[in-house]
Amino acid sequence: ESESTPTVRPTSPAHDSAFLRACRREPVPHTPVWFMRQAGRSLPEFRKVREGIPMLESCTRPELIKEITLQPVRRHGVDAAIYYSDIVVPLKAIGVDLDIKPGVGPVIAHPVRRWEDLEQLRPLEPDDVPFVTEAVGLLVAELGATPLIGFAGAPYTLASYLIEGGPSRTYENTKAMMYGEPELWAALLDRLAVITSGFLKVQIEAGASAVQLFDSWAGGLAPDDYRRSVLPASAKVFEAVAGYGVPRIHFGVGTGELLRLMGEAGADVVGVDWRVPLDRAAERIGPDKALQGNLDPTVLFAPEEAVRTKTREVLAAAAAVSDTGHVFNLGHGVHPTTDPDALTRLTAFVHESTQR
Ligand code: CP3
Repeated sequence: ESESTPTVRPTSPAHDSAFLRACRREPVPHTPVWFMRQAGRSLPEFRKVREGIPMLESCTRPELIKEITLQPVRRHGVDAAIYYSDIVVPLKAIGVDLDIKPGVGPVIAHPVRRWEDLEQLRPLEPDDVPFVTEAVGLLVAELGATPLIGFAGAPYTLASYLIEGGPSRTYENTKAMMYGEPELWAALLDRLAVITSGFLKVQIEAGASAVQLFDSWAGGLAPDDYRRSVLPASAKVFEAVAGYGVPRIHFGVGTGELLRLMGEAGADVVGVDWRVPLDRAAERIGPDKALQGNLDPTVLFAPEEAVRTKTREVLAAAAAVSDTGHVFNLGHGVHPTTDPDALTRLTAFVHESTQR
């Protein structure tokens, strides 16, 4: 494992960026900022370059990936780029029949319900995603000292799409399998852990300097179920990329009761949604982890003064815990109807108010 660790890491031009320093809980010149879903429909320049190109196809075109990933960095001056892709791209790449329907999300042609259905899920090899290697290479060359965050969907969130066949509010089939067929469930999550590990490794080997595991829908689980039935697979993913020494971020929505477990799964940085103030989150998570978050993305629809007030509250809660180890973000992704200027102003405001 450690033998395959790239030796270029410490000399990467992004190594001393505010973002990577905050992830390592080192002193920073200002609190770094990036936004989940910063690339996407909130930006007119995104809508323009995506015109007529389906979502999944856009994720296989290196020059387009590069352009879309860079758009929010140019426009907002954020401290990190996040690789433009989707959590279902690695599944598509190994041959799972799926699509992303506009306004809906991922839709799976043959949902996973029985043992035979696992045959769709083999390990992901770098050759399955040559466009990722190429796009990350282009990006890292262009970004210089600005870090690139790679990402993947966590086994549970991917499983929920595969089992339900699409987005769900109740996760009924998912939970039926988790409680009713624990061996099939464990085998499914284990296969997804292997695929996700492979996808993160490709991004890191090509030059991504941090990774985020999105377990967006884990907040639907009680802690004991999360610990027993989900954490082992996510821990396997974090372990698989531990040798690279790049910061590992773990994020989910509505995970107030899971924060400690999400850290224990192997994260260096725990992402927190807006429901738990960061000082409370730190108590739950315990020492030695950096925090990411957590302005309510809907606050951006309020007047500027309210945005500033709510942002000051986030910064104060983070500062009450420690003067290191905070990455400013929203508590979930940017809503597509957000005014992009509000994000630009927010980035500048966080930078100004945390200048050290
Ligand atoms: O800027 C970034 O954050 C990088 C791009 C990114 C996308 N998807 C692009 C995208 C990231 C990080 C994701 C992750 C993702 N995808 C998650 C985890 C993050 C989260 O929001 O919790 C999840 C659950 C998905 C699955 C998914 N893909 C959904 C729910 C949707 C939205 C459906 C819709 O149209 O409202 C998608 C589609 C998607 N992924 C779009 C983008 C830009 C929009 C589709 C389009 O432009 O046609």
